[in-house]
Amino acid sequence: MNLSNKSNSILKSFLLLLFLSLSLFLLFQLNPSTIKPSPSSSPSSEVVVDQPPQQLLKVRRSYSSYDDYIKHQLNKTLNPKLRHLWATRDWDRKVRVFSSFFASLKSQGLLSNSSKALCVGARVGQEVVALRSLGVSDSVGMDLVPRPPLVVRGDFHSQPFGNDTFDFEFSNVFDHALYPERFVGEIERTLKPGGVCVLHVALQRKGDKYSANDLFRVEGLLGLFKESDLVRIGKVDGFGLDTEVVLRKKKVDI
Ligand SMILES: *[C@@H]1O[C@H](CO)[C@@H](O)[C@H](O)[C@H]1NC(C)=O
Ligand SMILES: *[C@@H]1O[C@H](CO)[C@@H](O)[C@H](O)[C@H]1NC(C)=O
Ligand SMILES: *[C@@H]1O[C@H](CO)[C@@H](O)[C@H](O)[C@H]1NC(C)=O
Repeated sequence: MNLSNKSNSILKSFLLLLFLSLSLFLLFQLNPSTIKPSPSSSPSSEVVVDQPPQQLLKVRRSYSSYDDYIKHQLNKTLNPKLRHLWATRDWDRKVRVFSSFFASLKSQGLLSNSSKALCVGARVGQEVVALRSLGVSDSVGMDLVPRPPLVVRGDFHSQPFGNDTFDFEFSNVFDHALYPERFVGEIERTLKPGGVCVLHVALQRKGDKYSANDLFRVEGLLGLFKESDLVRIGKVDGFGLDTEVVLRKKKVDI
């Protein structure tokens, strides 16, 4: 590539960036209520993800062993700098935003003070603080690294809870699942019949290097639920995650 080609492509990238920033700016201007999940369910029309047609969900790579995958995940979860940030600078903002999500779910009757609630992949536990401060006192988080008293140790591929335990489960770490069908299967197993599952996922954004899968279309997630009915799909502005999916585990028939 010669010099003029190079500067040409730099110019192109710059213009593209300018265009994207402008579009993003306009989007936020036109849509000031970005924090509240809206009940509408229009999937994106503005962002094109390069993907083979039909591809809904893709697991990124295989690991030489399950231990290797866990080690890789722990590298982020145990990172002292990150843990410090999560517990300090990030704390109030996250508790506040989670509280607004949960307050909205409460007002829709999907969550109540008497719900037994689990936050899957809760890291340091801001979700749990948000739930408890709203009055959902029987709530707990679960992650590979525990943080008592808010977060207990557990792997979302194999939850340390019995069948039919929770009324409500929330998670925003679906992209970290190496076995997405087990992630969902464990939620369905541990939810009580009639229990509600709320997931925040990214459809328009690539995760970070700790993400284990990429979700291209929400159907790739919905298809994994075998025992639940879809309540709704909405937009959300949840720390880089753009889509809120709400399902309810079916009541046992007869
Ligand atoms: C874990 O992360 C650190 C940086 O925080 C890096 O230096 C190290 O190589 C990583 N280890 C593994 C096993 O991925
Ligand atoms: C739920 O708990 C909150 C906080 O303790 C309280 O303000 C609210 O009145 C309770 N709601 C109901 C319906 O009991
Ligand atoms: C728990 O649920 C799983 C899957 O739904 C089922 O295979 C298993 O037999 C159940 N275990 C008990 C103890 O009921």
